[in-house]
Amino acid sequence: MSTIESPDTITLIRPDDWHVHLRDGAHMAAVLPHTARQFARAIVMPNLKPPVTTAADAAAYRDRILAALPQGMAFEPLMTLYLTDATSPDEIRRAQDTGFIHAVKLYPAGATTNSAAGVTDLRKCARTLEVMQELDMPLLVHGEVTDHEIDLFDREAVFIERVMRPLRRDFPELKIVFEHITTRDAAQYVAEAEGPIAATITAHHLLYNRNEIFKGGINPHYYCLPVLKREEHRLALVTAATSGDERFFLGTDSAPHAVHAKETACGCAGCYTALHALELYATAFEQAGALDKLEAFASLNGPNFYGLPVNEGKVTLKRETWTIPPSVAMGETQLVPLDAGDQLHWKMS
Ligand code: NCD
Ligand code: ZN
Ligand code: ZN
Repeated sequence: MSTIESPDTITLIRPDDWHVHLRDGAHMAAVLPHTARQFARAIVMPNLKPPVTTAADAAAYRDRILAALPQGMAFEPLMTLYLTDATSPDEIRRAQDTGFIHAVKLYPAGATTNSAAGVTDLRKCARTLEVMQELDMPLLVHGEVTDHEIDLFDREAVFIERVMRPLRRDFPELKIVFEHITTRDAAQYVAEAEGPIAATITAHHLLYNRNEIFKGGINPHYYCLPVLKREEHRLALVTAATSGDERFFLGTDSAPHAVHAKETACGCAGCYTALHALELYATAFEQAGALDKLEAFASLNGPNFYGLPVNEGKVTLKRETWTIPPSVAMGETQLVPLDAGDQLHWKMS
């Protein structure tokens, strides 16, 4: 190995997580400090049971998050609404008026965890989307078709053709975030599209391809949606994230599920990364020789797209080897973080 000079500390403007699942109740109380330690703000996903479909629901959820935040921790939850066939234009106006609801989330019905109440046909939402476009309220998209005839690994690419292109043709000024992209198709689409579109990329999709799910026997802790793809897609995501293109930014999609809900038949989809997100991203960026691009991806591009100020503080990562715990407590149960028991060579101080 050559000894290319590489830093022993990384200092970044304090980053934000533009896609996280904080859940609720005792589970939220356990995972919230992890996110708040790593990030100043986070876009909080609304796929609770029942989902957060009104401005009033979002206000109540926000209050519960702030109440669960440990004393002395600073963290700003950026709330979202869960779009349904019945979301009214007035609800969007009420959401906008709160000042703390920053986006509306599209879950195609049946696409992922707690998406049963999601949109069955986007044409039903036309008036609502029009108002979002007018108010500059971003639409966050879980971009997979739900058609069971379509191969699971192709559902994101097919979504671009069947949903994303028509949507953007009909609402060319609507701000859209293509969430947790997993394919070269999506990275290329976002990089080349005209108008206000961006994408979040998770740490696990930068670090792993689909082999990881089957390595040494089936491993449910690498099962998430959209599912990990082939190596060529991982490489395209790394290229996008490290390109300096401001359309790509950090969204962990950290999605906690109790260990018994993961390690079972019909295990839930979701990887838990809030505990060590920045360290995972730093590992991926260092592997790509692009640590100098991490700050833009983690701390600048997101606020720029959402029209929010960049954070004031800094965070520091040190080169230090540590072992990811095999599990962490979550209420009455346990949660298994991504890469549990493995070593990381960056540590947030
Ligand atoms: C998420 C969850 O568990 O809420 N799961 C996942 O695999 N990503 C839902 C989602 O973001 O699609
Ligand atoms: Zn999703
Ligand atoms: Zn998610």
